[in-house]
Amino acid sequence: MSNSKLDLNGQEYELPVIVGTEGETAVDVLKLRAKSGAITFDPGYGNTGSCASAITFIDGEKGILRYRGYPIEQVATAASFAEVCYLLVYGELPNRAEYEEFRDLLARHTLLHEDMKKFFEGYSTMAHPMAILSSMVGAVSTYYPSAESDEDLNLNIIRLLAKTSTIAAFSYKKSIGQPFVYPRNDLSYTENFLHMMFAVPAETYEVPPVLDRALNLLLILHADHEQNCSTSTVRMVGSSEASLFASISAGISALSGPLHGGANQKVIEMLEKIRQDGGDYQKYMDMAKDKSSGFRLMGFGHRVYKNFDPRATLLKEAADEVLEQLGVADPLLDIARNLEDTALKDDYFVERKLYPNVDFYSGIIYRAMSIPTEMFTVLFALGRLPGWIAHWKEMRSDPDGRIHRPRQVYVGETERDFVPFDKR
Ligand code: CMC
Repeated sequence: MSNSKLDLNGQEYELPVIVGTEGETAVDVLKLRAKSGAITFDPGYGNTGSCASAITFIDGEKGILRYRGYPIEQVATAASFAEVCYLLVYGELPNRAEYEEFRDLLARHTLLHEDMKKFFEGYSTMAHPMAILSSMVGAVSTYYPSAESDEDLNLNIIRLLAKTSTIAAFSYKKSIGQPFVYPRNDLSYTENFLHMMFAVPAETYEVPPVLDRALNLLLILHADHEQNCSTSTVRMVGSSEASLFASISAGISALSGPLHGGANQKVIEMLEKIRQDGGDYQKYMDMAKDKSSGFRLMGFGHRVYKNFDPRATLLKEAADEVLEQLGVADPLLDIARNLEDTALKDDYFVERKLYPNVDFYSGIIYRAMSIPTEMFTVLFALGRLPGWIAHWKEMRSDPDGRIHRPRQVYVGETERDFVPFDKR
């Protein structure tokens, strides 16, 4: 381990330097405050390493994304989502026997406690499915005790992975007033989800392979993305030793925001608005460049990717294929392509290194799959679940782990005397 030197008010401090397996360099400031009284300042944590992690590697300059060392391009084309869940949560790819056992466990834990069905009756018909998802996942903890042993924890992980897909599908059925469709244990994770979403009790439903492949791809591409807002939330909440269910419920809430997972819904709403406005995408480009408009091009920009988002590249190709295979012609795809082409040549976007992100094309595929707009972010959550779980598990098994508790620079009033009501 090497050291770096910080010169602060004429005093020199030695700070250790940590280097990751891919050569990322970090200055360890853990002891800086104790030595000097100073803290580091980094609003929005844009340049702060909050932990060391062995789960996902991103090189934002080169557009690299790897899960446990495996390039996303290989994982996305060769793996099933269940396999990716196993890889992220347990650290290695499963052999065939391990995979079969894992798939079987996932299938056997998809049922919700019958009493939980009553919860759905209490939600307003206007409830956003992300609000239902976060509260239902929190509510799962009321049925299953916090894990005391590794075995209990593993069971809760399986329960969470399995039951979240049922909760997501039930929230959709509730929103369209159809009866819930119970899970089928003979189907794969993705097939079963599509079955619970689209089967109608009076009819037989065969999961179209094109939908299954598209869902697999979408879930895999969302499965982890290191210390993003929702994952950091899961780690933050979990660091207080809150339960797995409570921590993931908090992560779902963080994901719902339009600057994070909620962007996929906003992208489609934006494209639809442009279409209704006569397809004048240049007008919206100009608005996005004008700060006073308060408008941002949704699905563009990323804190980490400064060249291209490899997930967006894969999804752009997939959008063409899926729409063709389903025989869907979506005018929003043309608007999206035009927006992208124009932005990539525009100085504002080029200078700021703003490229389409994962949310830009995913919504077009979800639409072609007949998934309603309000469910898009729920699908993101379902995909991100193994990543959140892997991070929660990694954080909790870290022997040096401590409760997350950032500092601040106070800029409010200095001390002053309290003034009673009659003197104000
Ligand atoms: N449209 C127009 N201008 C933008 C956009 C955009 N989508 N994104 C960033 N900018 C500008 C921003 O105004 C700023 O300009 P200036 O330097 O002149 O002040 C500059 O680019 C840097 O932006 P920032 O807000 O400091 O960047 P950030 O790293 O804090 O935010 C972001 C990243 C993703 C929140 C942001 O790019 C954004 O709001 N994008 C739209 C929402 C979106 O698509 N979110 C999904 C992110 S990917 C999925 C996920 O992981 O959640």
